[in-house]
Amino acid sequence: MVARREALLALLGLWLGPGRACAASSTWNEMPDGGPYVPTPQLVVERMLELAKVGPKDLVYDLGSGDGRLVIEAARRHGARGVGVERDADLVERSRAGAIKAGVADRVRFLRGDIFEVDLRQTTVVTLYLLPEMMLRLSPKFRAELPAGARIVSHDFPLTDWPQAAMLQFDSEEKEQNLGIGATQLFLYRAPGPGAAVPRSPVSPGSR
Ligand SMILES: C[S@@+](CC[C@H](N)C(=O)[O-])C[C@H]1O[C@@H](n2cnc3c(N)ncnc32)[C@H](O)[C@@H]1O
Repeated sequence: MVARREALLALLGLWLGPGRACAASSTWNEMPDGGPYVPTPQLVVERMLELAKVGPKDLVYDLGSGDGRLVIEAARRHGARGVGVERDADLVERSRAGAIKAGVADRVRFLRGDIFEVDLRQTTVVTLYLLPEMMLRLSPKFRAELPAGARIVSHDFPLTDWPQAAMLQFDSEEKEQNLGIGATQLFLYRAPGPGAAVPRSPVSPGSR
C-alpha cells in the first residue's frame, strides 16, 4: 500500500510536465496544495458517481474540480446539481464552457478559489481526487460541515481516519495510458453529521 501510494504521488508529480502544469499565481501558491491537475478518466468518473448513487436530489461538490468533468457528468447523466471548486482560472473557464456545451449550465457552478473556503453544509455528495495530505486536512472540515448521510467518494486516496462504507478496485485503460498505472481504487464514506463522532476506522496495516 505504501509503495502504491508513493508510486501514485510520483506519477502525479510527473504529470506536472511542460504544458500540463497549471498556471501559477501568488494566490494559487498560497492555497493548501491538493496536488496538480490530473483528470479522472471518464470510466472512473462514471464509477464514482454510481458508487455514490448520485441522483436528481443531490448537490455534488467536486473539491479541486479540474476541467469540471465530475460535476458536469453528475448533472448530465444523473440529473444532480453541482459545484466545482478549483484554484486554476483556466480550468474554471474550461469547466464553464464544458457545462454550456453539455447543456447543464443552469444546474452547475464553478468557483475559482480554495477548497477550504467553501461551505459544505448543503452538500449531499463530495467527490475528490486529491493528495493524501490534503485528505487528512479536509477530514475535520467534513466532520464539522457535512450533513448526516452525505456521501464522500474519493479516487485513489482514502480518508484514513474514516471507516469505509465501500471500496472498489479495477483497472482503467485510460489511466494506464496517461499515467502508466491503470490500477484504480475508489473509497466511499458516509458523513455522520456535524458534531457526531465518526467511528474509528479499523485501519489496515500500511494504509496510512
Ligand atoms: C488531481 S486533480 C483532480 C481534478 C478533478 N477533480 C478530476 O478528478 O478530474 C486536483 C485538482 O485540485 C486542484 N486543487 C489543488 N489544491 C486546491 C485548493 N487548495 N483549492 C482549489 N483547488 C485545488 C488542482 O488545481 C487540480 O486541478
